[in-house]
Amino acid sequence: MRLEEIENEIRSCKRCELWKSKTNYVPGEGNPKAKIVFIGEAPGREEDIQGRPFVGKAGKYLTEVLKKLGVERSEVYITNVLKCRPPNNRDPKPEEIEACKPHLLKQLEITRPDAIVCLGRFSSDVILNEFGLGFRGISRDRGKVFEVEKWDKIVKIIPTYHPAAILRNRGLAEYFESDLKKAVEVLKRKPKTLLDFFS
Ligand code: URA
Repeated sequence: MRLEEIENEIRSCKRCELWKSKTNYVPGEGNPKAKIVFIGEAPGREEDIQGRPFVGKAGKYLTEVLKKLGVERSEVYITNVLKCRPPNNRDPKPEEIEACKPHLLKQLEITRPDAIVCLGRFSSDVILNEFGLGFRGISRDRGKVFEVEKWDKIVKIIPTYHPAAILRNRGLAEYFESDLKKAVEVLKRKPKTLLDFFS
């Protein structure tokens, strides 16, 4: 299956009730061969209007930090736990997360990234539990680099704060940036063999 097929599948999803109140589905966007996948919580107002992830204030900040670290948005893949906006940006409900999770897992199965950055507690909870690592809260787990064996390689899972949290508390920015830096390091890994180089 290709990434666009999943994105199209998402655009007709009725697995939970959120499709009724959304304006647009927000499946995700970016490089299908991305080495880093960023996973947020759910689309906000601006994302719902545009049908694209992280294009509001928090998204602009995320894009800015990536640029500072020498990474363009088009190099990575960006998506969310939920693909539809919860009304008034309320927290995702457990049943919505469960209903939407297969979409996210398929997106990961296709991109097979070297690093997964979990933006905020919902994303960290879903991913760490999915990979059998357990989530102990964002303040405890952020900045840790978890490593799992997956897709015949070691995949890094890096939980960090949600960029919207940084906009509310600028004092957290240095932690956020250092967490993202850990993920960006996978882009600098040297290929071990010629085969790695071309794959
Ligand atoms: N917040 C999120 O979690 N995701 C978005 O796409 C935008 C804001």
